[in-house]
Amino acid sequence: MSDSIRSTSVALITGASTGIGATYADRLAKRGYDLILIARDVDRLNALSDRLQQEHGVNITVLPADLTRRDDLARVEDFIRANPQISLLVNNAGASLKAGFENSDADAIENLIALNVTSVARLSRVAFEGLIRHKDGAIINIASVMALTPELQSAVYSATKAFVLTFSQTLQFEMAARGLYVQAVLPAATRTEIWARSGKNIDEIPGVMEVGELVDAALLGFDRKEKVTIPPLQDEKQWDDFEALRSAMVPNFLQSHAAPRYKA
Ligand SMILES: NC(=O)c1ccc[n+]([C@@H]2O[C@H](COP(=O)([O-])OP(=O)(O)OC[C@H]3O[C@@H](n4cnc5c(N)ncnc54)[C@H](OP(=O)(O)O)[C@@H]3O)[C@@H](O)[C@H]2O)c1
Repeated sequence: MSDSIRSTSVALITGASTGIGATYADRLAKRGYDLILIARDVDRLNALSDRLQQEHGVNITVLPADLTRRDDLARVEDFIRANPQISLLVNNAGASLKAGFENSDADAIENLIALNVTSVARLSRVAFEGLIRHKDGAIINIASVMALTPELQSAVYSATKAFVLTFSQTLQFEMAARGLYVQAVLPAATRTEIWARSGKNIDEIPGVMEVGELVDAALLGFDRKEKVTIPPLQDEKQWDDFEALRSAMVPNFLQSHAAPRYKA
C-alpha cells in the first residue's frame, strides 16, 4: 500500500500504571516497541516509563487520562489521530464494581460502562484509520472469562466484558478484508489490584494466576494470531466446541416462522 507506515512498532496501552497493562508495557518494551502509556496515576506511569526506557532504550510517552471523562478521552483520541505510527492498541484499562447490581448506584454503573465499554469502542474506532496503514496493525482487547459466566453474578461487569468479546469477534469479521488483527484475551482471576480496588479478597479466590504468566501466555496467543485467547483454559477443545455449536446456529436464525414450540 503506498501510504503504509514503516517504522519502529508503537503500542498504545490503556490502564498501563499497574497490573496487566503495566505487564504488557514491560513485555512490549522488551520486544522493542515504543510505548504510549495511559492511566490516571501519573507518578506510577512516570516511574514505569523511566524504568523501561533505561532497561530497553525505547521511547515512551506518558499520557495521563481518566477514560471515564469525556474531555480526557477526547484528548487521547486527538493524540491517536495525530500519531498514525501507532501499530498496536491494547485496550486494557478496566475496573469492576465494589458491590452487586442491587447495591451499586446508577452513576457507578454508568462510569463502569464508560471505562470498560465506551472507551474500548471509541479508541478502537479512532485508532482504526492509522492501524490499517500498518502491515501488522492490531488491537488487543482485554475481556474476561466473566463474559461467559453469568453464574458468577456480576451483571454489569460481566456484560461489559461480553461487549468486549462480541465486539472483538465481530470486528474480526468486519475488519478481515482490511488486514487488521483483533485479539480478545479472556483472563480468569489474575493477581492484580483490581480485586482490592473492588473490595474483594483475592486470597479467597481459588486458582489465581500470576500476572506475568497471564500476559506471557496472551502474547503467545497474539504471536499465533489467535482470535480468542483464554490462558487458563486447559482444554482448548472446549472453546472450539463452544464456537462450533454457536456458529452452527447462525444459519438457523433467519426463519419466516416461529419454531413449532411457540405455536399454540
Ligand atoms: N485481574 C483479574 O483477575 C482480571 C480478570 C479478567 C479480566 N481482567 C481485566 O484486565 C484489565 C486490567 O485489569 P487489572 O487486573 O490489571 O486491574 P488493575 O491492576 O486494577 O489495573 C487497572 C488499570 O486500569 C487503569 N484504570 C482504572 N480506571 C481508569 C480510568 N478511569 N481511566 C484510565 N485508566 C484507568 C488503572 O490505572 P489508574 O488507577 O492509574 O488510572 C490501572 O492501570 C481490566 O480490563 C480487567 O477487567 C482482569
